[in-house]
Amino acid sequence: MPLIRSEQLYNRAKKVLPGGVNSPVRYYDPYPFFAVSSHESKLVTADHKTYIDYCMGYGALLLGHGYPSVLDAVREQLDKGTLYCVPTEREIKLAETISKVVPCAEMVRTVNTGSEATMNAIRLARAFTKKKGVIKFDGGYHGAHDYVLVKAGSGAASLPASEGVLEESSAQTTVVPYNDAASLERAIEKNRDTACVIMEPVLANIGLILPDKNYLNDVRKITQQNDVVLIFDEVVTGFRLALGGASEFFGIKPDLATFAKALGNGFPIAAIAGTKEIMQQLAPAGRVYQASTFAGNPVSVSAAIAALETMMEARDALYPKLARTCDSIVEGIKEELEDIGGIDCVINSIGSMYQIFFTAEKVRDEAAAKKADAAKFRKMFDELLKRDVFIPPSQFETCFVSYAHDEEDVDRTVEAYGEALRKIKERR
Ligand SMILES: Cc1ncc(COP(=O)(O)O)c(C=O)c1O
Repeated sequence: MPLIRSEQLYNRAKKVLPGGVNSPVRYYDPYPFFAVSSHESKLVTADHKTYIDYCMGYGALLLGHGYPSVLDAVREQLDKGTLYCVPTEREIKLAETISKVVPCAEMVRTVNTGSEATMNAIRLARAFTKKKGVIKFDGGYHGAHDYVLVKAGSGAASLPASEGVLEESSAQTTVVPYNDAASLERAIEKNRDTACVIMEPVLANIGLILPDKNYLNDVRKITQQNDVVLIFDEVVTGFRLALGGASEFFGIKPDLATFAKALGNGFPIAAIAGTKEIMQQLAPAGRVYQASTFAGNPVSVSAAIAALETMMEARDALYPKLARTCDSIVEGIKEELEDIGGIDCVINSIGSMYQIFFTAEKVRDEAAAKKADAAKFRKMFDELLKRDVFIPPSQFETCFVSYAHDEEDVDRTVEAYGEALRKIKERR
């Protein structure tokens, strides 16, 4: 069914916005639907449709759209001011709260976006080690800046490389396959000038790919033995896999970690956290320069404190519910697949995240993810949308469950997947 209003808006948008959108992953052909409002697990479109949302701000909305305690904190702050650019007690409180729940967070610097956080974490690692090289993983995405836009995931997965990124800059970045400790070890041996390893502990931007047993332990050991700073990019996993992120979930302490997304539950805020020794290098305490007008702005800080306090208070109910909801969806889809029969399909899931790959092969690295049938995935996306279920429009993203998704959502979602998968089977 054509979305007439969205089509009109898209035709208008593409005259003034490159590609009609403000971030590439939002586009899919022939045009994306436009949103007008959201609540709990739902997105409402300009065409008066209401979708069950599994994009959830690409993982930012852990508590759901418009979570009351977060909105109340923001409303209260709006009357007191939106930007001071002088320190506030609430910034201390936010850092103290992050320190309490994140294992490596002896000190914290608040920034605005995940990209800003990873860019400055790498700068800190270089300054600390007095070395230059960066190692990242195939399909790992850490934002759209030059240090890491090399064989990256998410929207960049379909581009060989971004034009405009200097070769001199990307030449400092070595890319190794995920779930392959020997390759990492070899890369470090080959370049003794390696400053840091930056990784999503669970890859969530090339579809969803989980670490093999002991893999993250091996990465920790290898980096420690070679005086290489280990940066966990927890922009997706932070506060989501557990209150203390992947670090708590897997029991591994990196030297630095970056956070964004769930930290503000829909408000723009991010953080770099790590050992005092490394973090103290940041100006004005040290000689690593990082600065931002909007860093620690009182609106986002209020949202983040409220989100974290809610997660802390609800912890015992929140994480089991997220996992239960996600498991029910995954189990439901698996039952549908068994019922239909004959579709090669792998579902990776952990905590509140899942993704489907149309392939017979286990997906444990980027190469396997890229072998999956993307055309079938696209067909599934279209069929789900027709049934009012919105998942991220790319194989190289992850579906996110929130605290707001309920049993009715699960039932409707599983039914929609069942029908969508039957359509895929019919088309063969
Ligand atoms: C793991 C990871 N790191 C960094 C980023 C960049 O964050 P932002 O889009 O807030 O700059 C993203 C964004 O999706 C991400 O998934």
